[in-house]
Amino acid sequence: MVTKGSTARASAGTARAATSSGDRTGYPTGAHVRLEGVLKSFPLGQRERLVAVDHVDLELEPGSLTALTGPSGSGKSTLLHLVGAIERADSGSVRVDGHELVGASRARLTRYRRSVGFVFQRFHLLPSLSVLDNVLVPLLPERAERAGAVERARELLDAVGLAAREDALPATLSGGQQQRVAIARALVVRPRLLVADEPTGNLDSRTGRSVLDLLLGLRATHPMTVVLSTHDPLVAAACERTVHILDGRTVAA
Ligand SMILES: Nc1ncnc2c1ncn2[C@@H]1O[C@H](COP(=O)(O)OP(=O)(O)OP(=O)(O)O)[C@@H](O)[C@H]1O
Ligand SMILES: [Mg+2]
Repeated sequence: MVTKGSTARASAGTARAATSSGDRTGYPTGAHVRLEGVLKSFPLGQRERLVAVDHVDLELEPGSLTALTGPSGSGKSTLLHLVGAIERADSGSVRVDGHELVGASRARLTRYRRSVGFVFQRFHLLPSLSVLDNVLVPLLPERAERAGAVERARELLDAVGLAAREDALPATLSGGQQQRVAIARALVVRPRLLVADEPTGNLDSRTGRSVLDLLLGLRATHPMTVVLSTHDPLVAAACERTVHILDGRTVAA
């Protein structure tokens, strides 16, 4: 993976096309994400660079549900970090709803990042905050203090089946419950794009399945574009489209 390779295009999937620009709940259908010739490398020793994402072209249609699969180290997380602007690409183009992220100002990337929902394999809940306060974390202080914010967080906790645990500390919850809180937290910003890096990776297969079912079910009321990474073939099979990553490139599944 240290050498550069040729451009590879993702296999044609069955991404669901957007059917409308919004719904009754005020949620838009989802973001349109387009990556073209995206390259991301990291320093490797003194002179070399490790190419983690190697000239990737990838399109995520509004409202689609895509799974990234591939061996450990193939570049799935890095690709998700580029889509979520946690990392910046070396070159190429990452456009979200037509807005270019590569070369965007830090202020713009910060604003963009706040609009994206993230779910991580290790949940990343703040241990000293209650479940309810964890869900409110992504909101800026002035928004979190608005009257509607707490109600919204409670609605989301209800949607993930944890309404009764809003005062609990994360450590007192099971892994599956903690991931449900993390999903509620990701949705509090009303994201048009949800990025989930191995959202079931730390869960046993039954709990993982229930968390996945929850995520899929939430799309009915919270339309959004979802891209996740997974090592679990059952999780990938539940998605509309699978993009396989090998050595930083997309390959036909
Ligand atoms: N911040 C970083 N600094 C240096 N190298 C990195 C960094 N992040 C990722 N890499 C390297 O980039 C490559 C791709 O890593 P990445 O985490 O994207 O893989 P992955 O497909 O998500 O793997 P896994 O399935 O184990 O999560 C790996 O070789 C990794 O070591
Ligand atoms: Mg990873």
